[in-house]
Amino acid sequence: MTLDRRDFLLGSLAAAAACGARRDPAATAGGPPAAPAAGPAAPPPAAPARKKSILVLGGTGFLGPHVVTAALARGHTVTLFNRGKTHADLFPGVEKLHGDRDGHLEALAGRTWDAVIDPSGYVPRIVKASAELLAPRVGHYVFISTISVYAKFDTVNPDESLPVATLADPTSEDVKAGYGALKALCEQAAEAAMPGRVASIRPGLIIGPGDPSGRFTHWPTRLAEGGEVLAPGDGGTPVQYIDGRDLGAWIVRVVEDRTVGTMNALGPANRVTMQSVLDECNRALGNRARLTWVDAAFLDQQGVEGWRDMPMWLDNHGDFAGFGTLQNTRAVRAGLAFRPIGDTARDTLAWLGTLPADERAKARSSGITREKEAAVLAAWHAHQGGRASR
Ligand SMILES: NC(=O)c1ccc[n+]([C@@H]2O[C@H](COP(=O)([O-])OP(=O)(O)OC[C@H]3O[C@@H](n4cnc5c(N)ncnc54)[C@H](OP(=O)(O)O)[C@@H]3O)[C@@H](O)[C@H]2O)c1
Repeated sequence: MTLDRRDFLLGSLAAAAACGARRDPAATAGGPPAAPAAGPAAPPPAAPARKKSILVLGGTGFLGPHVVTAALARGHTVTLFNRGKTHADLFPGVEKLHGDRDGHLEALAGRTWDAVIDPSGYVPRIVKASAELLAPRVGHYVFISTISVYAKFDTVNPDESLPVATLADPTSEDVKAGYGALKALCEQAAEAAMPGRVASIRPGLIIGPGDPSGRFTHWPTRLAEGGEVLAPGDGGTPVQYIDGRDLGAWIVRVVEDRTVGTMNALGPANRVTMQSVLDECNRALGNRARLTWVDAAFLDQQGVEGWRDMPMWLDNHGDFAGFGTLQNTRAVRAGLAFRPIGDTARDTLAWLGTLPADERAKARSSGITREKEAAVLAAWHAHQGGRASR
């Protein structure tokens, strides 16, 4: 698979600081020593020790609302900064500042917050502008990056020191073409503006209620429809993902603990495979589906593409040999926790049911069509029959 293809795949998911996640010394100065590098995460306190004022740059798309909901539930004060275009009716009781990250940050001038969470930064020049403006009056910058920063996934069990992608043209701001490399430069821009005060969070595929991309959503909808379901590979492919609600709650924990450093944010805690995930989702949805696993080479011959037609799955070899095996140890030590995938599947379906028909269609638009699935299954059975009779 070419790297262009990689950017298409991972970009559609949407200073490689190799330093480990750690508590900002400023957060613990005069208090207890910083958290040890190893050991299980302490459960979050029932209520935060100190309520924080948090600025969210964005906050009304997919991940942002999960962060805002979690922050409000923990009693923090939230301010949103966005253009007022996306889901403008969300969070009516929350302070909203309007502007444009690209050149119109005036509404932020002179204001002070404990922390800023940045889920909407894609271009280093733009992240630099907000981080530099806020540096004197904000203690902590939490930048939402991505695992697409990595140049390749050709090693198994890599941690955050895996090399990041670079731009062929360093002046490019073409996010579609250079999503991962630009995100890596955004991380570096934030760190340069606020050295030692930045958490760069690198999520994998974000799933669950609110996901407009329809990627994971293919699986619960298709499994719930029942019957014979096309499943990719031999079932043993390792897969990773993160429920947006778990990610949102953890980002707030990162703010509360003033954790800094670079962290992969994906789960679950233990290695799972495509088969264990689909089986668990199927069980949670009433066991209506019968999975037929079709090998990767056959899928390729039939023009079935990993990730696009078979969401969450990539035929992992070559540059993707270690895909699905990224370490999440730093994030787990910093408190990242995971709900069962069956709960995510059930909740995703329930959320879909609340959408108006046109939005529901959009949120289900990824994944193989029923027609193509039926054709591939028929071809597979014919192929198997042919092999059996040889
Ligand atoms: N989805 C995945 O699987 C996945 C995987 C890995 C990483 N990620 C990362 O996770 C994050 C997801 O972000 P999200 O879109 O869900 O965040 P979000 O904060 O929920 O939504 C994006 C927000 O940015 C605002 N915005 C967009 N352009 C703006 C501008 N020029 N000026 C001011 N505000 C602007 C939008 O509001 P207005 O339109 O009203 O301005 C909206 O509030 C991204 O950083 C992505 O790279 C995603």
